[in-house]
Amino acid sequence: MKAVIINSYGDADVFQIQDISKTKISIDEVLIEVKSGSVTSGEARIRAINVPEGMSFFVRLMFGFKKPKYSILGSEFSGIITETGADVTEFNVGDKVFGYSSKSGANAEFMKIKADNVIVKMSNNMSFEDAASIPFGFGAAHYFLTKAGVKSGDKVLINGASGSVGTAAVQLAKIFGAEVTGISTKKNHELISTLGADFVIDYKSEDFTKLEKKYDVILDTIGKLNFSDSKDSLVEKGKFVQMVGGLPFYLRMFISNIFNSKKIVSGVSNDTKEKLDYLKDLYERKMIKPVISKIYSLDEIVRAHEYVDSGHKIGNVVLKISE
Ligand SMILES: NC(=O)c1ccc[n+]([C@@H]2O[C@H](COP(=O)([O-])OP(=O)(O)OC[C@H]3O[C@@H](n4cnc5c(N)ncnc54)[C@H](OP(=O)(O)O)[C@@H]3O)[C@@H](O)[C@H]2O)c1
Repeated sequence: MKAVIINSYGDADVFQIQDISKTKISIDEVLIEVKSGSVTSGEARIRAINVPEGMSFFVRLMFGFKKPKYSILGSEFSGIITETGADVTEFNVGDKVFGYSSKSGANAEFMKIKADNVIVKMSNNMSFEDAASIPFGFGAAHYFLTKAGVKSGDKVLINGASGSVGTAAVQLAKIFGAEVTGISTKKNHELISTLGADFVIDYKSEDFTKLEKKYDVILDTIGKLNFSDSKDSLVEKGKFVQMVGGLPFYLRMFISNIFNSKKIVSGVSNDTKEKLDYLKDLYERKMIKPVISKIYSLDEIVRAHEYVDSGHKIGNVVLKISE
């Protein structure tokens, strides 16, 4: 099978396309013919060990010290089950599925995953491209909006509203009943408004901290804001959510949360089958739709990573692996 192999950390050109033998499954696993994957900002960061201050040790601990532990990247996937292990009862050969693999492996024509991991059946109206673009952005957006306790009537400010997490957060915050303001450059305002944002701010020409408006939740999806500059734009007991933080940030958060009524919220998103089923249901009812800006083939993996590395991608980047 064709696969994108990574043998060392580095720039986007670190990948090699190789023909390798098809992976074998255990009794509790399924084999999937991958139709679509994606290139997320998360795995581009791991590829380059481009992580916030003080986090490199922990990332290497999880993903390999000297070189990547998993030689095939790709965490989001959609495809068709071609084999099931003897103990698998939830899935059958021919099922269309999508999910999120914590052990990567989706940048290949076939991948294996344990049936009880984050994998669910696709809904009938789902394309493979959309299915592979839901778990990362919507999964993280749902985790942090829920953790911040966003509820109906809240005023929510989303920074990085044009990214994968941002475009998902705008849609989910509206579903939670919030009034949403999205921050992006002007060229993406129409997109963000179409997704449901009530107000938009251009970060190149406006500074929200200088405006009168106060928010219940400020969600920074891209790690560009800080609490001290943002806190006057929060209501009393408002929450500042930071999705990208290093060790010094976590220390400051711990101390700040002891002394301030306005709290900082952070952490690492978790993915579950239940959450994916919830998102699938929203998609089926046409309440959410992932934004896909570019589709690349497996052979174009370097270009796909370069685009993600730019820090200016819009929504999600799909890898179309087979028709
Ligand atoms: N903690 C967790 O569990 C967790 C989970 C998932 C993701 N993450 C992290 O979350 C981050 C976001 O991922 P993503 O894929 O959604 O991001 P992304 O797609 O890479 O975000 C890029 C977007 O941010 C916009 N942008 C760039 N600079 C900006 C600025 N100064 N102000 C406002 N917007 C700006 C860009 O638009 P313009 O071109 O208009 O500038 C672009 O559309 C990543 O760093 C990822 O590692 C964390």
